[in-house]
Amino acid sequence: MKILVTGGAGFIGSNFIHHILLKYPEHEVVNLDLLTYAGNLENVKRWEGDGRYRFVKGDITDAGTVDPLVAEADAVIHFAAESHVDRSILDPEAFIRTNVIGTYVLLEAARKNGLKRFHHVSTDEVFGSLGQGDAPFDEHTPYDPRSPYSASKASSDHLVRAYHETYGLPVTISNCSNNYGPYHFPEKLIPLAITNLLEGGTVPVYGDGLQVRDWLHVEDHCRAIADILERGTIGETYCIGGNGERPNIWIVKKLLEILGEGEDRIEYVKDRPGHDRRYAIDFSKIRNELGWEPSVDLEEGLRKTVAWYRDNEDWWKRVKSGEYRDYYERQYGK
Ligand code: NAD
Ligand code: DAU
Repeated sequence: MKILVTGGAGFIGSNFIHHILLKYPEHEVVNLDLLTYAGNLENVKRWEGDGRYRFVKGDITDAGTVDPLVAEADAVIHFAAESHVDRSILDPEAFIRTNVIGTYVLLEAARKNGLKRFHHVSTDEVFGSLGQGDAPFDEHTPYDPRSPYSASKASSDHLVRAYHETYGLPVTISNCSNNYGPYHFPEKLIPLAITNLLEGGTVPVYGDGLQVRDWLHVEDHCRAIADILERGTIGETYCIGGNGERPNIWIVKKLLEILGEGEDRIEYVKDRPGHDRRYAIDFSKIRNELGWEPSVDLEEGLRKTVAWYRDNEDWWKRVKSGEYRDYYERQYGK
């Protein structure tokens, strides 16, 4: 199968490329990525020169770039997005452009070219915010996005469903909880905390730190997407979660414990505007239909992740200094 991966230089997309090329020797991958601040080709450098892998620098909102790539693909796995809630609050425009228009351009190319399979990677944030005693999100939860990021992702989900209902495009959608693991950009809570602590700094905790997220190791997410691609039902949505509901402050204290640091390294800061209080996922559908469930225990996964950041100091130091952005030119020229 020829798979067009959008956003394959980002956190989850790059982990997905590793997963596919290592596990499925018969698959080929084209990685289409604009290399925004979040795209880092060093994440996938081990595949350079491999006949089953090709990188294309390009924008998913550009039909001229997207069309021929979709035409030669058997499946599109769509990760490319602006993904950071805080940035969407400061400047929503890029979120509307990439997440809404970009998804539309891909869907149009898929429709015109009779693409056999379009998988859309989405988020649990489209469902809004839960109270403490509320039942977890599932595939029937009404949409209630509350940030420009989640509103743009909700919009893209609706477009994907509309292309299935209206044009019969063979789509699947997944809505996943918070991922963590290797190659996670250090603007997000877990990699920011680990790298700040390794550098001798503090961890900013928003508000009271009691907001709850459901953490899933990125390799489990990638395996879920591969399972949906292989055995998922066309037109269906799958909620993916980690059985890993924890308040943010629990995560931060666990990282402090793993790194042997004290609570004086916690810095409580102003809260995120409109901060969603709690996310939780009921993943019974994907477990019952496809036999998927998370395999990485959260504490074990956090230890492995801390070890990865310790072993890959060069990677995150180059990200934090901005040097990673020169990699494309050095490899591919201007
Ligand atoms: P990321 O920010 O790490 O990576 C996004 C990638 O998309 C980058 O490589 C970037 O260069 C690329 N990109 C951005 N705009 C582009 C454009 N216009 N054209 C081509 N490429 C472009 O994001 P991530 O955390 O890996 O998330 C990937 C997907 O998974 C997103 O759709 C996100 O909404 C979804 N998701 C993320 C999480 C999470 O916890 N990180 C959870 C659930 C769902
Ligand atoms: O739920 C899935 C979503 O998870 C994805 O759709 C998003 O792309 C991804 O970024 C993530 O969104 P969050 O906003 O939950 O992730 P973030 O790492 O930014 O924040 C996690 C929690 O930690 C959140 O409650 C905000 C808080 N936080 C975050 C940062 C960056 C802090 O307390 N301090 C921080 O410095």
